[in-house]
Amino acid sequence: MIGITLENLDRVTVENEWNSSSENELIMHTIHAYPAKFPAFIAKKAFDYAQEEGVTVQKVADIFCGCGTVALEAKTHEKEFWGCDINPVATLIAKVKSESYEKETAETYFNCIKDAYQNKAIDNDIYSNANGRLKYWFTDKSYVDLFRLKSAIEDVVVDSKYLDAFHCLFSSILKASSKWLTKSIKPQIDPAKEEIDVWEVFELRYIKFLSAIEQIKQKRISSHSIIIKTENFLEAEDTPDVDLIISSPPYVTSYEYADLHQLSSLWLQYAEDYRDLRKGSIGSLYNSENYTIQLEQLNSVGRQIVTDLINIQRATAKVRSVARYYVDIQQAIKKCASMLNSGGMALFVVGDTEYKGVKVKNSEHLIQSMTDEGFTDIKAAKRRISNKLLTPYRDERGRFSSDKTSRTIYHEEYIISGRMWS
Ligand SMILES: C[S@@+](CC[C@H](N)C(=O)[O-])C[C@H]1O[C@@H](n2cnc3c(N)ncnc32)[C@H](O)[C@@H]1O
Repeated sequence: MIGITLENLDRVTVENEWNSSSENELIMHTIHAYPAKFPAFIAKKAFDYAQEEGVTVQKVADIFCGCGTVALEAKTHEKEFWGCDINPVATLIAKVKSESYEKETAETYFNCIKDAYQNKAIDNDIYSNANGRLKYWFTDKSYVDLFRLKSAIEDVVVDSKYLDAFHCLFSSILKASSKWLTKSIKPQIDPAKEEIDVWEVFELRYIKFLSAIEQIKQKRISSHSIIIKTENFLEAEDTPDVDLIISSPPYVTSYEYADLHQLSSLWLQYAEDYRDLRKGSIGSLYNSENYTIQLEQLNSVGRQIVTDLINIQRATAKVRSVARYYVDIQQAIKKCASMLNSGGMALFVVGDTEYKGVKVKNSEHLIQSMTDEGFTDIKAAKRRISNKLLTPYRDERGRFSSDKTSRTIYHEEYIISGRMWS
């Protein structure tokens, strides 16, 4: 990590130690897929880096905690954690990953679920009465089997943390059980996809979960407070004071998290219409529907990028959402500044992109936002992205694509840190 300003950002180079790690991730990190999850070693590396820079890290926050990568690493490194995410599917996964479970209790519940699943009578009209969107994604047979499984779970699991765990395992098999084109960046039907055996896949996930519980148990870690909230960070009240914030902000207009998690949101009844969950989601194209660009709300970097985009294609929905994204990120950085104890550190992982030939430099915007909020000692390094699930690509017309022969837009990303002194 080298000290930087906007003027010398081009000096930042890829530092291999942020690229990969020789240590395997805990099994618990893999119990449920999550788009844009970052590798677990980044959290551990950030703890070490903060410590080397003189920060005593007792309490960590991730303001966009996603599936709880930082939460689980904080737990296993015996640190307190606070995190939030607007997406209820994300926080379900994050809570389950960072909870403590007893293998024997999980086994008892699993056997009861199996029994209930095998014996549960299901009404004949269950599929015809299903949510239309779920009918779109699931065949009659898969839907009925999933319905049977979910009912079995809810009939027998009374302890709420185990109910969360089995809901999470249930959620983890939904894409595979549906017609969803695997690894697609956009919700898309795969007409050739074959039905899978719902119970068989669920059982495999459960076995993996047991190994994950065992692996963590062997670490004999003492318990620390872990709080995970489902909320819009920009509206969050009662945020704690922390020593270190580690977070990767949402991408701008590339992922529609609510759309990508629609199967889980609908099955777990987080929404009647999954589109309702787009509201407040930073970077969503739909989050700027009633937003009018006010350039004076943007910092100098944001204003320049948005002006360049307007000059090319006027204030289209896409350009409005970029502007809204920058306003939201500025507000998020302001809130981060107020959460940090004196001498505390924030560390962000962020990627730049390009739209219609305009460089959308999220890194520069973030550095400017941090500077404006009083962060000092700003440092950065670059890392190469490998293997990130659903890394977006662009086709030759600049549209997002899942085609790996298209241009990668996030092949490198920045790690940016700053200190806050009061
Ligand atoms: C890049 S992902 C974070 C992934 C995370 N580092 C992990 O390893 O899973 C960004 C997250 O920001 C969340 N998000 C978007 N808008 C938000 C908001 N207003 N408040 C809180 N979370 C938000 C998204 O739901 C998404 O999970």
